[in-house]
Amino acid sequence: MNIVGYSDVWSAAPGDRIRFMVSTVHPRFEASIVRLFHGDPAPGGPGRKVRAVETAVDGEYPGREQPYPLGSYGIVEDVSPVDGPFSFSAWVYPTTSGGGIVEQGDAWRLYLDDDCALALRLGDETFRTGAPLRLFTWSFVSASFDGEQVRLEQRPLRPIPDDPAAAVAQQPAVAPPPTGGPLVFGRGLNGKLEAPRLEGVGAWDFSADIGSDRIRDVSGNGRDGRLVNMPMRAVTGHNWTGREIDWRNAPDEYGAVFFHDDDLEDAGWEPSFELTVPDDLPSGVYAAWLRAGEDEEWLPFIVRPPRGESRGPIAFLAPTLSYLAYANEHAAEGNPVAVTDFVMEDYYQPEDRYAIEVPLNGLYDKHRDGVGWCYSSRLRPVVNMRPHYHMPLVRSAHQFPADLHLVDWLEEKGFDVDVITDEDLHAEGAELLQRYRVVVTGSHPEYWTTPMLDGLEAYLEGGGRIMYLGGNGFYWVTSVDPERPHVIEVRRGRRGTGTWRGEPGEDYHSTTGEPGGLWRDRGRPPQRLVGVGMAAQGFDRALPFEREPGSEDPRATWIFDGVPPGPIGDAGIMMGGAAGLEVDRLDHALGTPPHALLLASATGFSDSYQHVVEEVASSDSKQGGTVSPFVRGDMVFYELPGGGAVFSVGSISWCGSLSHNGYANAVSRITENVLTRFAAAAPVTPAETEEVVT
Ligand SMILES: [Fe+2]
Repeated sequence: MNIVGYSDVWSAAPGDRIRFMVSTVHPRFEASIVRLFHGDPAPGGPGRKVRAVETAVDGEYPGREQPYPLGSYGIVEDVSPVDGPFSFSAWVYPTTSGGGIVEQGDAWRLYLDDDCALALRLGDETFRTGAPLRLFTWSFVSASFDGEQVRLEQRPLRPIPDDPAAAVAQQPAVAPPPTGGPLVFGRGLNGKLEAPRLEGVGAWDFSADIGSDRIRDVSGNGRDGRLVNMPMRAVTGHNWTGREIDWRNAPDEYGAVFFHDDDLEDAGWEPSFELTVPDDLPSGVYAAWLRAGEDEEWLPFIVRPPRGESRGPIAFLAPTLSYLAYANEHAAEGNPVAVTDFVMEDYYQPEDRYAIEVPLNGLYDKHRDGVGWCYSSRLRPVVNMRPHYHMPLVRSAHQFPADLHLVDWLEEKGFDVDVITDEDLHAEGAELLQRYRVVVTGSHPEYWTTPMLDGLEAYLEGGGRIMYLGGNGFYWVTSVDPERPHVIEVRRGRRGTGTWRGEPGEDYHSTTGEPGGLWRDRGRPPQRLVGVGMAAQGFDRALPFEREPGSEDPRATWIFDGVPPGPIGDAGIMMGGAAGLEVDRLDHALGTPPHALLLASATGFSDSYQHVVEEVASSDSKQGGTVSPFVRGDMVFYELPGGGAVFSVGSISWCGSLSHNGYANAVSRITENVLTRFAAAAPVTPAETEEVVT
């Protein structure tokens, strides 16, 4: 990618300012603002549909390359130069060779060398133990200089007889000239560090202020510091007993910080231009469109309606936290995740290669030591959140570009829709939703915070209506960092369909203290909220839905007005059908209300589709789509007290079928019937009448 960038916010109201940061090899680039309707280049679809918006951004800008300051570390600014003798100690848990433990300017640096042995550079001299530390194991390390000799020591927490990882090295040395500079912990390290202590200077307790980027000096010298690029906190220390798995109950057993050399919170690029959202700009999906030579880049953002206002009865809730969770995802790289008969690399986009090269990662990826990414920040390029992007695993649009299928359809059908985002819902709760008669979700609203779930529940209890036009929604417990609202946190915990598992004792979020994992494991399964929940995922192709008897119920026949008999959604630009990628199932035991009508189902999936692991207690050979009755997609409808209602399709690929045949198809018609009815003032339901009678 020869031009790449990001914006500082993803959701802006009229009057708000958005800054755009750009890095490019080109000396100049052009920028303008466009409204996005469709970007998916898939054959058979409507292709690129954008509308130019005249703003003060229009113009040419100087290009420059901006670096990625990768790697997390801790820094203590206010430290006087080491002048003569010193003594340092810490616990370290390396997960790869190499990387810094502590350094101060050019004066001295204690680190692990390429063999993972402890090494000290003092001025121009380097001293080594020559004994590699064991990976994924705690060791106590110390380094001291008494004015005449350097002494290095490393001691595994659980030594073995004649332990080759235990060593003491003592050699004569001369003091280097004193040089100042901040004290830096863990730079370049992949691994955990705990309780660093520099005699007479400071002793840092990483178990303090876990929810923040602060590191506290408990020596009494007041030399507090901060962490840069969000290394992982709320991780187990060398003394973790397992008696507690919630760090808040045993903070002294969570005194470690996990550093990685590819962590990145804020790329910190200089802004190239900015936009103050014009007052008359209608709510919608927009992007800064950058062009330089043959290259182009899109930096999408949402314009929400003015705060406290709504333009009409319909809101599209853009699942921006799910976009952020999937940021730069390339988890399938060299690691086939499913039964597939294609070669993933054949479908790599330039964006995938770029994300692998930098590297840029999201919550699906692992650091190079195999530890999962648990924080994702939007203050850096998110190169797969682009209107044209196809996810290799699916060979189709996914997340943001897939949601443009819906945005385009809404425009084609003449629905005037406000676009709001997860972040807006997180901040404003039910009050935001209550301005609308109906809220329409995106294709894959998977990542939900507590305030978001509470807000949606309260909205539905108050008579709201939801169209859940996706699959695998409302799934992972997600936190928005209260101190750094551009960051989300997810811990994958003990079970769930994902690309990594958490480490023991590390299921609780550092940013909010919430228990992480699946919402169903906190008693809030999606079925209770929207009637269906995650059942299976597969990657070969999508199937159509077939009608179930519920579609003949007088409560629901209006949904099928004008829909001919036969399959629903047997074509589409996402995997070729309306039920696919991830499909959800009705399940009364998990909370689907008893009066929910099963309108249609998709069954007969291939074995690429497997029943989700969280419902499989013991591995066996009967979990594939060809044999498991649980591998299915269910479409449901039901009424709620107070005039509310729920319509759920339980499939990620539904919206990819909307545009088929010039928008004239069963999926389009059903969606239009429901949206028209849900957006009307009239009660959706007979339940409303009953309530009035009693
Ligand atoms: Fe997902």
